[in-house]
Amino acid sequence: MDSQSYLSELFSLDGRVAVVTGGSSGIGRAVAGALARAGASVVIVARRETELAAAVEELTKDGCRAAWASADLGTREGVRAAAERAAEPFGEPDILVNSAGINLRPPLDELGDDVWDATMAVNLEAPHLLGRRFGPGMAERGFGRIIHITSQQAHRAFVQSGAYGVSKGALESLARSQAEAWSSHGVTCNTLVPGFVMTPLNARLSSDPERVAALAARTMVGRNGLAGDFAGAAVFLASRASGYVTGQSIFVDGGFSVH
Ligand SMILES: NC(=O)c1ccc[n+]([C@@H]2O[C@H](COP(=O)([O-])OP(=O)(O)OC[C@H]3O[C@@H](n4cnc5c(N)ncnc54)[C@H](OP(=O)(O)O)[C@@H]3O)[C@@H](O)[C@H]2O)c1
Repeated sequence: MDSQSYLSELFSLDGRVAVVTGGSSGIGRAVAGALARAGASVVIVARRETELAAAVEELTKDGCRAAWASADLGTREGVRAAAERAAEPFGEPDILVNSAGINLRPPLDELGDDVWDATMAVNLEAPHLLGRRFGPGMAERGFGRIIHITSQQAHRAFVQSGAYGVSKGALESLARSQAEAWSSHGVTCNTLVPGFVMTPLNARLSSDPERVAALAARTMVGRNGLAGDFAGAAVFLASRASGYVTGQSIFVDGGFSVH
């Protein structure tokens, strides 16, 4: 067997359908691009249509099969609409990536019900509802991959973790519950855990060169994360190669969490 065939057997996503929430920006955009370039037909989900269309255009120009669905994952109705729209272009997904997330960061003693509810809705409830919608079908077909993007704040407090850290800790628990429910039917559920990644989510922190340098120094690799750093791990977790990896949290953080 030549090396291309071997790699393809392990990692190719040809014929797979993927739904990536938050696929119009940052980590989700990089992950959507990686899955599409590895062969999957990818539907990206977010609210802003201009950004969605731009991301799909970039992928289509690159020869990928991609489509977008606009919906607000902050409400149950929005999540239901997102799921139906996402399944339209290429059919029911084999791979679900939950990257859409918000981090509003008020100090804990000023954290109002509105911030709490919005954070839990987008970061935690939407991944659960999308899993409930797509997981059983994956199990019935005997193959599925669910990948959540959590955060180092699932493991430690960091820059006003507030509701955000709670939502990400629970998201890692959700991955384990989903893994328990569906792994015996070929559906693995895992999380990728970023450290500090230079994306629009961190616009405020990223614009402070001293903070950026201090955070880079806390990694072992010596720099902060880039969205593209998630490509390889996402393809691995979406592929046949990761069939015996489930319920796990995989840190893609340049050693931040162990330094
Ligand atoms: N950057 C970091 O350092 C870092 C660290 C740890 C964890 N993470 C996690 O990684 C994931 C991706 O973050 P990122 O840095 O790539 O963020 P980003 O660049 O801000 O992207 C967030 C994405 O989520 C979408 N989104 C937000 N709210 C939504 C809603 N209500 N409905 C539908 N889509 C929504 C956004 O599109 P619209 O605004 O158009 O809806 C966008 O596509 C998040 O879960 C985040 O918590 C990031």
